[in-house]
Amino acid sequence: ATNRTFTMIKPGAVRNGHLGAILADITAGGFKIVAMKYTKLSAEKAGEFYAVHKERPFYGELVEFMSSGPIVAAILEKDNAVADFRTLIGATNPADAAEGTIRKKYATSIGENAVHGSDSDENAAIEGSFHFAGTDIFA
Ligand code: CMP
Repeated sequence: ATNRTFTMIKPGAVRNGHLGAILADITAGGFKIVAMKYTKLSAEKAGEFYAVHKERPFYGELVEFMSSGPIVAAILEKDNAVADFRTLIGATNPADAAEGTIRKKYATSIGENAVHGSDSDENAAIEGSFHFAGTDIFA
C-alpha cells in the first residue's frame, strides 16, 4: 500500500554540499515529496525529537550535531515507504552500508550519517507531525 515515511537530511550532509544529490537520489528512488522544509533545530527541539535515545551514551553528541546547522525535513510517499527508504539510505553505520546507498555515498560516521529515516509507520506519523502541520502536506 502507498504510505509515508519521514526523513531529515542532516547538518553534515548539508554542510558538505550533498543536499541536491540526496534529494535527486530520493526522487529517483520513486519517493514523492509531500512535505518539505529547510530549517534548523534548536538543541531543545533536537533533544525532543530524539528523546527515545535520552539514556544512550551518544545522546549529547547526537543533539549537538543535529542542532549544529540547517537540515531539510521531509515527508515522503511511496508504496512500502518506510522499508524501501531504509533500503535506499543503507545501514545506520556508513561502514556497514551497502554500495550505492545514500549513507555509503554521503555519510562520514555513525553519528554524522547524512540522513534520518523513520523505523516504523507509527514513528513516521509521529516524526512527520513533529515537523509539519496537516496544511503543510500536499499529497
Ligand atoms: P538516526 O536514524 O537519525 O537515529 C538515531 C541516531 O543516533 C542515528 O541515526 C545515528 O546518527 C545516531 N547514533 C546511533 N548510534 C550511534 C553511536 N554509536 N554514536 C553516535 N551516534 C549514534
